[in-house]
Amino acid sequence: MSHVPPKLVGEPDGSTPLDPDEMEGLLHKHVTIRGELDQLEQANIVEGMNWLKKQKRPDVLTEGFACELHKRLFGKVWKWAGSFRRTEKNIGIDPVQIAIQLRLLLDDARFWIENGTYPPKELAARFHHKLVYIHLFPNGNGRHARIMADALLTKLMDEPAIDWAGGYRLESMNERRDQYIAALRDADGHDFDALFAFVGA
Ligand SMILES: Nc1ncnc2c1ncn2[C@@H]1O[C@H](COP(=O)(O)OP(=O)(O)OP(=O)(O)O)[C@@H](O)[C@H]1O
Ligand SMILES: [Mg+2]
Repeated sequence: MSHVPPKLVGEPDGSTPLDPDEMEGLLHKHVTIRGELDQLEQANIVEGMNWLKKQKRPDVLTEGFACELHKRLFGKVWKWAGSFRRTEKNIGIDPVQIAIQLRLLLDDARFWIENGTYPPKELAARFHHKLVYIHLFPNGNGRHARIMADALLTKLMDEPAIDWAGGYRLESMNERRDQYIAALRDADGHDFDALFAFVGA
């Protein structure tokens, strides 16, 4: 018998639900309320960001780095952190396609950087969109993919990070988040204008 309820109290509408197997991976069995989970994740993310800060020349555009970063950001909260998702979600491609589609994206991004295909912020926005579109992990994809895009800018291109939150808390419901999600939806339909505006490209 599991002690973990299938859904947390206070889960906002429209958030990607975790299936029971994924909830089993919650390393803090006492957590039943979404707000408690948010705090645990936030503390873990702070640690992960400190780890990232110390990486001088990380190989950002590799599967190994993408997974290690997710593990550093969420590994003290979720047993499955750093491992690709195995279940279908309302966002994201078929899970069996994740590794190959990630590989193609990392290769594309490397090519874009080497050839100056796009201005830096535009490049990072395209990279971010495709990464959340693939949806590598059961959860934490938005936060992971924002940090990945920033790592690409700061560690590989010597450019400033994106101001994703713009003075808001992007994780909670507010107009900034609405703009962000709407811009990603446009980008799903190959219209990147709103996303470029959002990241200040
Ligand atoms: N229509 C969409 N197309 C592409 N990506 C989307 C779409 N809707 C949401 N997303 C992305 O998926 C993320 C939500 O996925 P997930 O719950 O795995 O990430 P998270 O880090 O927990 O989210 P959060 O952004 O709330 O921190 C959003 O932040 C956004 O980046
Ligand atoms: Mg989430």
